Amino acid sequence: MNISTAIGNITEQKADAIVLNLFEGITTPGGATGAVDQVLNGQVSTLIANGDFTGKFKQISILYPTNGITAPRIILVGLGKQEDFSLDRVRIASAVASKEAEQRGVKHLATIVHGGGIGGLNITNATQATVEGAILGTYQFTTYKTDQTPTNKLEKLTLVEFDASKQTDIETGAQAGQHIAEGVCLARNLGNTPGNDLPPAVLAEHISQMAESVGLSCEIFDEHRIQSEGMNALSAVGQGSSRPPRFVILEHKGQNPTADPVIFVGKGITFDTGGISLKAGDGMWDMKFDMCGAAAVIGAMQAVAKLNVPTRVIAIIAAAENMPDGNAYRPGDILKPLGGKTVEIRSTDAEGRLALIDALAYIKRYKPAAAIDLATLTGACVIALGNDASGLMGNNNDLIQAIHQAGNRAGEIVWHLPILEGHRNQIKGDYADLKNSGGRPGGALTAGAFLEAYVDGYPWAHLDIAGTAWNNTTKPDTPIGATGVGVRLLIDYLRNLS
Ligand code: BES
Ligand code: MN
Ligand code: ZN
Repeated sequence: MNISTAIGNITEQKADAIVLNLFEGITTPGGATGAVDQVLNGQVSTLIANGDFTGKFKQISILYPTNGITAPRIILVGLGKQEDFSLDRVRIASAVASKEAEQRGVKHLATIVHGGGIGGLNITNATQATVEGAILGTYQFTTYKTDQTPTNKLEKLTLVEFDASKQTDIETGAQAGQHIAEGVCLARNLGNTPGNDLPPAVLAEHISQMAESVGLSCEIFDEHRIQSEGMNALSAVGQGSSRPPRFVILEHKGQNPTADPVIFVGKGITFDTGGISLKAGDGMWDMKFDMCGAAAVIGAMQAVAKLNVPTRVIAIIAAAENMPDGNAYRPGDILKPLGGKTVEIRSTDAEGRLALIDALAYIKRYKPAAAIDLATLTGACVIALGNDASGLMGNNNDLIQAIHQAGNRAGEIVWHLPILEGHRNQIKGDYADLKNSGGRPGGALTAGAFLEAYVDGYPWAHLDIAGTAWNNTTKPDTPIGATGVGVRLLIDYLRNLS
């Protein structure tokens, strides 16, 4: 989407539609909506007076002005009650209005910045959220649809501000919103791509192309290098597939290329059948989303580069396909991963934690200032938290706090879960140091405890995104499929450091 800014009156914008807003309970609109109401001789007030438009959150009304407004349509969107207002509501209101415009065939939409006026939000942040909403709300994944009938597509968004003194702030917010939302869309595209078209080597190829286009350094370890590095856990997970694993390292140098980096680690299981501990067939198809942790990290790194964040950031993607086969690893096998502590395999379906521990051991050499892994790790996390929050675990309270707050600001809720002695005991091995499954009780937490055992001497947090990485129904700012969850949180976390 083409994003631009304009200083001037929204009434004079040459667009296919303009977007205005209203808080619930307001009878005489102010700001831009009030100005338009006056030009229209009180048409908006009349709509409110008759109860046809109340400003309820996400409510939409369309007006067709006959004079005084250049654009042929006005889209009114409800912001809800002023006391419930937030940046997240800005994003969603913008998503709803943009989708409405798109469905009506609008190509060029002009909008005010939601929350910039009486909403009382920081104008840069409000602009960022308005842009994010428009891009995310109109996201479509049509790569595999052969129907050539052109679908309506919103092509251009102009953010209109009356006050010229806000120009720089709006431009900054619009740029950031675009880079971040495009990172989310990249994560969604990768997540939605099916397993047949996204084996580890192809995922690595996508990463390398992205890295090249934005100026990140990128190193790819193939299956031989993975073995020679001693990453025996990742190697074992991938050995049942004819499509071998990959380990990818991305780096953004930041202002100080020798600083201790922030490190992101993504679980990139391109398809998870469960392996020899084969999953049930029903719903197995959605294990194409088992690389959404990797997708989030990749989308975030694209945004990191485009925003040129000052922090040095390294990202690791541990990619493998978990398949049953004559060459596959088996339950009962004992592995010696890079971190040293041996693991007995109780379930080949607990593969994500195996892929991750080699990455967590590998990154020790960088002396991470903080490491955050993202993974669709456990069904148990979905049972615990449902689909509205990701699970957060870790070994450092400051990092946990920072991630929690970043999630709240970004509209990606995370919930802190404990790792307790009992969880650590559940994964003690009988024949080796550890076992890769602690059974059903506290399944998200024993997975966290397992990862923790391979974190040596750096602040670490783990995000279990099993319940949030994809939608089974369409939501205002995300259609059915991969959500790109994690991208906005990671970027918010980084931008808050500096
Ligand atoms: N990728 C799955 C976790 C998952 C399941 C994510 C459902 C999203 C929805 C993971 O590899 C897995 O299979 N975990 C097992 C662990 C168990 C064998 C200890 C699980 O959660 O059942
Ligand atoms: Mn699994
Ligand atoms: Zn998995």
